Amino acid sequence: MFIVLLGPPGAGKGTQAEIVSDRTGLLHIATGDLFREAVRKGSELGALAKSYMERGELVPDDVTIRMLVERINHPDAEKGVIFDGFPRNVVQAQALDDALFSHGHAIDRAILISVPDEELVARLSGRWVCPNGHIYHALNSPPKRHGICDICGAELYQRDDDKAETVRRRVETQRPPADLVQYYARQGKLDEIDGKRRFEIVTRSLMQALQTVTPSVSHPT
Ligand code: AP5
Repeated sequence: MFIVLLGPPGAGKGTQAEIVSDRTGLLHIATGDLFREAVRKGSELGALAKSYMERGELVPDDVTIRMLVERINHPDAEKGVIFDGFPRNVVQAQALDDALFSHGHAIDRAILISVPDEELVARLSGRWVCPNGHIYHALNSPPKRHGICDICGAELYQRDDDKAETVRRRVETQRPPADLVQYYARQGKLDEIDGKRRFEIVTRSLMQALQTVTPSVSHPT
């Protein structure tokens, strides 16, 4: 199965992708995590991505697509993937279709997680993460030990782009564009779920949507 999670910053894509990946065995690929890893390594890609991420802007398509296609080419992506944070626009969606098609795969379902703006700002401002991608919230899902990841024991930190000013810009400018949502709706692959509800209720809706998936192998165009 190849699944795309769409949603504004803070909708819960990363949180839910991690749970779905654990339950289904799908590989979780998050372009934001790939960029943050590149920043940590101090690579050329990381330096470029950092300047955009700090401003709350999208990294240019050519760079992002190249990084994503390279990741899909690894053998561990053959068994199925849940994509988190990619695609952000129709150009990226078409590039993803082409890349999957070259491996004999196609996107089976796109799930849009909807959450109102005021809730997004509260979620991002209270978010704490670990370097291995595990996600917490100071009020909604605190770790058992303050500042320490329950899963891997690493120290938690707040993302640079979760500063109040950047959060507002991301929430205003990084909602999934209408033509991207339409791209999947036209193919009959779109589900929308209400992401404002409790974690486990959102997970239940997501798992229900995935149960109706029948693998698709044709190219959409
Ligand atoms: P990325 O890391 O993808 O960030 P994002 O899309 O802005 O999404 P977030 O990770 O902020 O939020 P999320 O939806 O995963 O929510 P989460 O589960 O953490 O991208 C970062 C940057 O990288 C971009 O700005 C851009 O520069 C670049 N980039 C990445 N992909 C790109 C691309 N394809 N093209 C170009 N540039 C790209 O949850 C948020 C908080 O809410 C957490 O604290 C969580 O505990 C809490 N929470 C979650 N669910 C619930 C719930 N149901 N109830 C209460 N609290 C909840």
